[in-house]
Amino acid sequence: SSKEPVLIFLFGATGDLARRKLYSALYRLYKRDQEFAVIGLARRAHTDETYRDLINDSLPSEVGQRQHFLERFYYRRLDITRPENFATLKEFSDELNERYQLKGNRIFYLSLAPAYFAEAAKNLKKSGLATTSGWKRLVIEKPFGHDLKSSKELNESLLHAFSEEEIYRIDHYLGKEMVQNIEVLRFANPIFEAIWNRRYISNVQITLSETLGVGDRANYYDQTGALLDMVQNHIMQLLTLIAMEPPTQLETDDLRYEKVKVLKAIRPMNIHNIAEEIVRGQYTRGISPNREKMCAYLNENNVRSDSDTETFVASRFQIDNYRWQGVPFYVRTGKRMAEKATQIVIQFRKLPKNPYFHNVNHVGPNLLVIYISPDEGLSLKLNVKANGEAGSNTVPISLKFRNNELAMENMQDAYERLIADCIKGDSTNFTRWDEVLYSWGIIDSIVDSCKKRHVPIDYYEACSMGPSTADELLEKHGHHWWPIM
Ligand code: BG6
Repeated sequence: SSKEPVLIFLFGATGDLARRKLYSALYRLYKRDQEFAVIGLARRAHTDETYRDLINDSLPSEVGQRQHFLERFYYRRLDITRPENFATLKEFSDELNERYQLKGNRIFYLSLAPAYFAEAAKNLKKSGLATTSGWKRLVIEKPFGHDLKSSKELNESLLHAFSEEEIYRIDHYLGKEMVQNIEVLRFANPIFEAIWNRRYISNVQITLSETLGVGDRANYYDQTGALLDMVQNHIMQLLTLIAMEPPTQLETDDLRYEKVKVLKAIRPMNIHNIAEEIVRGQYTRGISPNREKMCAYLNENNVRSDSDTETFVASRFQIDNYRWQGVPFYVRTGKRMAEKATQIVIQFRKLPKNPYFHNVNHVGPNLLVIYISPDEGLSLKLNVKANGEAGSNTVPISLKFRNNELAMENMQDAYERLIADCIKGDSTNFTRWDEVLYSWGIIDSIVDSCKKRHVPIDYYEACSMGPSTADELLEKHGHHWWPIM
């Protein structure tokens, strides 16, 4: 096959992400004839056998041909802080390279606590592991730093061992089917491109709501919060895909260049506007739709009892360029909300004069809704004549396209797609350094202004759509959140 073989060094091999996403993604790649071997690395003691059992347990139950798949996984115990642990891997990786004919190609996948990223890169270089006859790539999970300064430091330390072209910063939202479809929807359909601007669009709403609470991740999450966990990366990426100018070509850097231009045009927050532009929320206890009692964030394991970490954030962003001047981009995301959904609504402007004024309540705005998950598809809301009634009576209808379940099952999932891209050397759907840089600039302006202005936490009941202040954020501009559709 034309697929390049590769040796994958998986740091954090026993961790949550590896077990939830990476092994099943690798399994699917294996089924598509991708050739690879994996060295799983972590601090715990495992043999190859017990490691393979762990992988086996993390695969979906219907998976066949496990044995042959599992045989290509090997485990080595490793302490990131000890260079000598890296040195001992050298011989073994050469051996695997020979045995599986991997052409010296290497991926170093850091599925680690961020505190170890820099050290791992340093020791990869020092040990000589990062020197190879084939290509080498570093895949790095978020968070990429915790503010602008730390992300710069991290980047510099990675650059000692890898070049920018070799660094693949994962944002798994960029691997999602409908996220990749935004670009096609916009640039392959003249009817949308013609009206995709401030003259015809009233506002844009991006919702990433989750039903899960903080779970067992409070050690990370309580230090992080929704703004850093979801807005800095996933939401900023979605926003730039909606807002960017058409790239002149679809080459990797043409696209990423356009995204950076959007980030540079986003108006930073300051102490004067912050209280108007952002809502920070935290969940209190509540009852789920199936009558389960949900505890408050403050009562979750490992959350500080006086924590003011936000588990919800809603915000209005303004993009200061010709296309978007005056069009609010509303975003919201939170844990323990009423529904798990990722959805983008493009709300078009009203008619200058509405001839159907006498039933004006029925003539709602045109909406284009992009469903990213759990459904994948889109819908366009229009107004038509009400059946059998006088022509002046209208009803709303919806033109819908949904990927069917079978198609969704056969489709690559986000991680599978992104790992495949990385093996191909296609970094289009990974975050370039300057994207990270500018998005941290925006987030820093929010964090700093929130601190200085003491922007309070607004509480919301678990399993609701967030605090009422998030509704007011839109109401004061004459808008409202469209419900999850
Ligand atoms: C991760 C966040 O990046 O995205 C998690 O760290 C969040 O807190 C997750 O739950 C959501 O991803 P998805 O694909 O389930 O929407």
